[in-house]
Amino acid sequence: MGPGGRAGLDVLADPDAVADRVAALVGEYLSEPGAPVLGLATGATFEPLYRRLGLSCRAGDLSFARATCFNLDEYVGIGPGEPGSFRAAMRRALFDHVDVRPERMHIPDGTAPDLAREAARYEAAIVAAGGIGLQLLGIGRNGHVGFNEPGSSPTSRTREVRLSDSTREANRPAFPAGAVPERAITMGLGTILEARRLVLVATGGAKRAALTAALGGPISPDCPASALRRHPGLHVVADREAAPLARAA
Ligand code: GLP
Repeated sequence: MGPGGRAGLDVLADPDAVADRVAALVGEYLSEPGAPVLGLATGATFEPLYRRLGLSCRAGDLSFARATCFNLDEYVGIGPGEPGSFRAAMRRALFDHVDVRPERMHIPDGTAPDLAREAARYEAAIVAAGGIGLQLLGIGRNGHVGFNEPGSSPTSRTREVRLSDSTREANRPAFPAGAVPERAITMGLGTILEARRLVLVATGGAKRAALTAALGGPISPDCPASALRRHPGLHVVADREAAPLARAA
């Protein structure tokens, strides 16, 4: 738990300090005895972190050799080889730079012919791996977690969802040549809440309103990230720009 009280909130100077802190948490987790099961997220927030993890791995200070990884989500209809897919984004950002075994990099398949079946398969794979020990989470500007958009139930499971216009707009840069997908497959909030530890990461002023609502507003499906407060192992790491004002003062 960090020094921020209830939710374990660390407020750090900038995105680099945030990445250093979260890299240390991930490094500690990966060096614990047993078989680590790490939940991963995509997004610009995690790029500095993944850079650090790649460098540490190359330097021999860190290893993913025993780790199994589960990503939160993937677009529907975008194949793993397409540059806009989260699978491709994870390869570029992390998987190509660490020693994780290919068969232990799990991301939902957004091209599966039966997405309900794919969602059930994904849930079963998480259980078969022993459950997620540490789950990294970002936050969307509208408070989404994974692709659990406002309105998502706190007990939701891995499923196909429709993306909000604001989320599609935020993710448009990943699709310079075409339309942003309208649907995705995401771990549910209920799935996420079963991880033993959650690390919610937010950087930049565009995340402040969402993080303020998540940590200080009502626990409500209007702000999906607010459901995370029910988890006793929630640790929030934010930079000064993203941190709720009252806490950052
Ligand atoms: C994406 C992902 C989330 C991510 C969020 C914020 O669409 N589905 O898992 O946390 O939006 O992304 P970013 O870090 O780029 O702001």
